[in-house]
Amino acid sequence: MPLSNMDIEMYESEDPIWNPALRTMPIPGIRKMVNLAASLPDVIHLSIGQPDLPAPDTVINAAVEAFQAGQTGYTMDAGLPELLESLALYYGERYQRPLTADNILVTTGATEAVYLALTSVSAPGRHFIVPDPAFMLYAPLIRMNGGEVTEVPTRAEHNHQLDPQEVLDAIQPNTYAIVLNSPSNPTGTLYPKETLEAILQEAAYRDIHVISDEVYDHLIYDGKTYPSVLASCSDLDNVMVISSFSKTYSMAGLRIGWLIASQAAIKKLRRYHMFTTTVANTPCQWAGVAALHHGREFIDGMLAEYTRRRDRIVELVEQTPWLTGYKPEGAFYLFPSLPDGVNGTNVALRLLKETGVCTIPGETFGNHCSNALRLSYSTSLDKIEQAFERIIPWMEKQDFG
Ligand SMILES: Cc1ncc(COP(=O)(O)O)c(C=O)c1O
Repeated sequence: MPLSNMDIEMYESEDPIWNPALRTMPIPGIRKMVNLAASLPDVIHLSIGQPDLPAPDTVINAAVEAFQAGQTGYTMDAGLPELLESLALYYGERYQRPLTADNILVTTGATEAVYLALTSVSAPGRHFIVPDPAFMLYAPLIRMNGGEVTEVPTRAEHNHQLDPQEVLDAIQPNTYAIVLNSPSNPTGTLYPKETLEAILQEAAYRDIHVISDEVYDHLIYDGKTYPSVLASCSDLDNVMVISSFSKTYSMAGLRIGWLIASQAAIKKLRRYHMFTTTVANTPCQWAGVAALHHGREFIDGMLAEYTRRRDRIVELVEQTPWLTGYKPEGAFYLFPSLPDGVNGTNVALRLLKETGVCTIPGETFGNHCSNALRLSYSTSLDKIEQAFERIIPWMEKQDFG
């Protein structure tokens, strides 16, 4: 939905009515770009943060059947029992980690799970570690509640891999949690098992939580097995793992996600969930049950398509003057860099106005990546080709030296 001028005024307002905590929320860079794009003709979007493929028929049919069967009331507060049981079984098999329904809380998308995890732990005087760049919700949600954030930068020359030693070096006596997101939005970087294990081991030793956002856990290329925190942690005592159906089954608008943690943590979070959204959408939880039982074929088809696009966009970035890319191993993003000192926001705005290609500036995702652009390949190969037919000649005319 376009952000109106009124919304922008609200974000920037110094009016005393607003909770000062709202000022920790930046105006979303994505919205700014997408709103500007909406006012221009013939725009090609490399800005999209959700799958462009239709959801599987089984999923849609299950939601429709649930509506028709009158499943329109609240579920249990932790979630629809059938979905909780299916998720416990599915994760248990996937990572050989026995889980019960009591280890899971169904939420309104991964967004609510991230919200619950971060805001239930953040408080004044508490310290958190977040990679930079990262999905833009994490740091503001921590700061809104008075917590402090140390950003650990990742770098294009290392394919935006997180250096576990830098994470451990950032730990302070008042550190409460480390946030991880692999594969990452915006970089598509997949953290290897060794990175997770180094962080998890030290975190467990120091009683620090690891909050792992795994929403892209099925968008993993080149036949790799997904290294989940759930496969590497020794127990659930200090981990919270978040995921959703949004990216895996093209169900972003159905808003079903979940959080996996120790039974004690889930009990606490259930109370908080009652004070936020109460329960997730009931018919769409039934759609989730169907997705878990019938979805593998859909995932394989999606992976084949996204792999083709990933390979092509990597080639096209290599052919583009001034852009330095790498080969992302997951999600559907690439986060190429411009030369040091070049402002990605200016470039993204000019690219949009002068060529009609919409990208997302790096600054949206942190403070250490102002010379980057996020490119999403959640759009057809044809559109990707057309976008670069505009970007390459435009870049050839620039002098960023
Ligand atoms: C890393 C990350 N986490 C969480 C979300 C939110 O997912 P959901 O649609 O399930 O709320 C997104 C959506 O873009 C994301 O990229």
